[in-house]
Amino acid sequence: MDKIIIFDTTLRDGEQAAGGTLNIQEKLEIAKQLEKLGVDVIEAGFPISSPGDFESVKIISEEVRTPIICALARAHPDDIDRAWEAVKDAKRPRIHVFISASDMHLVYQLKKSREEILQISGDMVARAKKYTDDIEFSPMDASRAEPEYIYQILEKVISAGATTLNIPDTVGYAIPGEFGALIGGIFKNVSNINKTIVSVHCHNDLGLAVANSLEALKNGARQIECTINGIGERAGNASLEEIVMALKTRSELFDVTTDINTTQIYKTSRLVSELTGFAVQPNKAIIGANAFRHESGIHQDGVIKMPITYEIIDPKSVGIPASSLVLGKLSGRHAFRERLAELGYSLNEEDFNRAFLAFQELADKKKEIKDRDIEALVAQEQRTLSETYHIDRIQVSCGDRGIPTAAVRLAAADGRILADAALGTGPVDAVYKVINRLVGVPNVLTEFSVKSITEGIDAIGEVMIRVESDGITYTGRGADTDVIVASAKAYMNALNRLLAAKKKTE
Ligand code: KIV
Ligand code: ZN
Repeated sequence: MDKIIIFDTTLRDGEQAAGGTLNIQEKLEIAKQLEKLGVDVIEAGFPISSPGDFESVKIISEEVRTPIICALARAHPDDIDRAWEAVKDAKRPRIHVFISASDMHLVYQLKKSREEILQISGDMVARAKKYTDDIEFSPMDASRAEPEYIYQILEKVISAGATTLNIPDTVGYAIPGEFGALIGGIFKNVSNINKTIVSVHCHNDLGLAVANSLEALKNGARQIECTINGIGERAGNASLEEIVMALKTRSELFDVTTDINTTQIYKTSRLVSELTGFAVQPNKAIIGANAFRHESGIHQDGVIKMPITYEIIDPKSVGIPASSLVLGKLSGRHAFRERLAELGYSLNEEDFNRAFLAFQELADKKKEIKDRDIEALVAQEQRTLSETYHIDRIQVSCGDRGIPTAAVRLAAADGRILADAALGTGPVDAVYKVINRLVGVPNVLTEFSVKSITEGIDAIGEVMIRVESDGITYTGRGADTDVIVASAKAYMNALNRLLAAKKKTE
C-alpha cells in the first residue's frame, strides 16, 4: 500500500480564515498536538507576512521535531530568504514557493506574461534550493489555468529542484472528475514528474474539497493538503479528519495508508476549535456533536443490537470517549482523574488540583457533570494560567426597571487589586465598561456569541467574543454557569491576549 503524505496547513491557510488569529503560544500548542496526531508536514506559517508569523514558524521549527516544518513564500527573493530564516533550525525544513498560474490572475492581478511567470518560477525555486533540498512549488489557481501551461511550469520547476508539486484548486472551482483528469494529465504530460511527489490543495467553495482530493489520489497524487475541522480561507480547505477517515473506512477502494493516529482526531479538533474560536457545526462529519448521535427509533434499535447497522465508524477510533458516565458532587479525585485521562488530558499535580477545585465548585451548582462540562472546565482553567488580569469578583444588578450596574474587581499579576463600577445599557455592557476602564487598552468588540455546553437549565454557558485593536483581531472565551460571569471571563481572556501581544511587540 502506498503511504499518503498528510500535509496540515491549519496554522497557515486555516489561520487565514477571517477572524481566526492565533498567538504564538497557541500555534505552538496546536503544532505539538498535530505532531501527536501524526501529520507528516506542518505548514507553520507565511514568515514574511508578519513578525508574529515569522516568530511562530521559528519556534515551531525549534520545538516540533518529528514532522517536516514548512514555510510559505511567494516567488520573490525576500519571501524565500525570510522563509528560510524561519525554518532553518527545523530538523526537516521545507520551503513552499507559490505563484499564480491562471491567465485570470496573470492578466488582472500580476500583470505579467506567461513567459515571465515561467522564468520567475524557475529562478525562485533555484534560489530556495540553495537553502534546502526539500522544495514544494504551487502554481496558484491551477484548476482554472490552461493544463498545457501547468505542464510547462511544472517541468521548469522540477528541473530547478522542486521535489513536491502542489496543484491548488485555489478558489474551490473544480469538480471531482475534472480535477482528477488534471492530475492524471500531469502524470502523462510532464516528462520529469516521476522524480517528484504530486500534491493537491483543495478549497471548499462548492463543498467539494474532500471529494476533489480523493479523486486526485485515485489519479496518482500522494500528498494531500488539509486542515483540522476544514478551516481556511473563505469556505475553508479540505478537512483532514474527513480525508483520513474516508481513506481508512473505504480502504478497499483506495489501497493507501496514512500515519495518522486517528484516536487523536477528536482532541485535535476540540483544541483547534477552542483556540481559533470557530465552533464545529453539530452535523460536521466525523467530529460534529451529532456525528454519532442516533435520533430515529429505528436507528437506535439497530445500533443497540449491533452498532455497524447504522455506524460506519467506531467513535472510539477517532478518540470520542466511549462512556457516557456522568460525574457529580460525590465523585472523588480518583473518578475525576480517570475521566480526565479518558478524555486525553494529562495534567501535572498543580493543574490537576486547580481543575479538581473548579470541578467541585461546579458540582455544587450543577447536578450532573458530563464530558463536555469537563472539557469546558479544563479549558477555562488553562486560560487563566498566563493572565495579566484575573476576574476576582463581579456583581451586577439589572432588570426591566433597574439601571444595569456592574461592580468588578480585578487581580493583576503584579499583585495590585483594581476595582470600579459602571452603568450600562445591559449587564454585559456595564461589566465591559468597568473592565475597559480598569485595563485601559483601546479595543472594539466585533463579535459576541453565547451557547450552552450541555442541555439543561443548569448548563455551563460558553461565551466567545472577538475584539479588534490596531487592525488585529483577538478571540476570547469564557465558561461559567452564570452567563454574565462567562461574558466577563471571555472579555478578560481577549484583553489578556491583546496585552500579551502588545508586550511582545514592545
Ligand atoms: O489556495 C492556494 O492556492 C494556496 C496556495 C498558497 C497553495 O493556499
Ligand atoms: Zn489555499
